[in-house]
Amino acid sequence: MTMTRKIRKAVLPVAGLGTRFLPATKAVPKEMLTVVDKPVVQYVVEEAMEAGIEHFVFVTGRNKGVIEDHFDIQVELEATLRERGKTAELKSLEEMLPAAGATSFTRQQEPLGLGHAVWCARDIVGDEPFALLLPDMIMRDSIGCLSGMVELYGKVGGNVVAVGECEPDQAHKYGIVGKGEDLDGGFRITEMVEKPPMGTAPSNHFINGRYILQPGIFDILTHQERGAGNEIQVTDAMLKLAETQAFSAYRFDGETYDCGSKEGFILANVAYALDRADIKPLVANGLKGLLSRA
Ligand code: G1P
Repeated sequence: MTMTRKIRKAVLPVAGLGTRFLPATKAVPKEMLTVVDKPVVQYVVEEAMEAGIEHFVFVTGRNKGVIEDHFDIQVELEATLRERGKTAELKSLEEMLPAAGATSFTRQQEPLGLGHAVWCARDIVGDEPFALLLPDMIMRDSIGCLSGMVELYGKVGGNVVAVGECEPDQAHKYGIVGKGEDLDGGFRITEMVEKPPMGTAPSNHFINGRYILQPGIFDILTHQERGAGNEIQVTDAMLKLAETQAFSAYRFDGETYDCGSKEGFILANVAYALDRADIKPLVANGLKGLLSRA
C-alpha cells in the first residue's frame, strides 16, 4: 500500500486570451462561455469538488475579473431570488460555490506558456501534491475524471496524468505519452512529448488536461526552457521530473470536449443539452430536423 498525501488543492490556469473565439471573447473570458446554462469553468470546478478538492487556485490574467465574481456570492441577486421564491435557482447558486476562503487568484503577468502559468501558483500550492485542471477541456462520464485519478493515485502514488485516445493524425495537437506496464485503470508512462511533429508520436494516448503532480514540478519549472511553440511547457517539466519520480497514466474512457475549439464547444452544448430532461425533447427534435437537411 502506497502512502499518499491527500490532493487538497487544484490549479486552474485561466489566463489564455481565447483568440479562437473572437469576437465572443473580446470582453468575456473564454472560460465563461456557456455550455447550456453554466460557464465552462464551472463544469471543471464541479469535477474538482466531486474529487474532494478543498482549495481552488485560479491563475488569471487581465480582463478575467468576472471569473472571480462568478465564484463569489451575489448578495443582491440572492435576495431577489429569495423574495420571489425561486428556491431551485437559489439552490443551484449555493451548490456551485466553493466555501469562503477556498479560492485564490493570482495573475500570470505575461503569456509565457502553460508551464509558466502553473509556476505562478507555486507559493499558493506550497509543498504538497496538487491537481491541475485545464478548463478548456470538459469531461463527461458517470464518475468525474479527477475522481478516477485520485483513486488511482491512492494506489500508485507519484504523479498521475489522465489520457484519452486520439486519431493518429490529431496527435500533433497534444501532449502524447508512451505506454509501459499496465496498471489497474491505467499504465506506467515511459515517455512524454509535447505536440510531436506529424508522424512522430510514440502512441495515440494524448494528455487530456487533468494532472496530479508532486510539488517538485515547481523547482523544475523555475529553470524550464521554452519548448514547443516557444512556450514554457508543463509536459517538458514533467519529463524532467520523471527522471526521479514515477508517472502513471489514468485511462479516461468518457467523453472529452475541447471547449477551446469551436467544434468541441458546440458538441459539448449538444451533449449536455441532451442530458437535461427539461430541454432534451425539443433539442433532440430540432437536431433531427437540422441533420436531415445537412
Ligand atoms: C495543453 C498541454 C497538452 C495537452 C492539452 C490538452 O496544450 O500542453 O499537453 O494535451 O493542453 O488540451 P494546449 O491545448 O494548451 O496547447
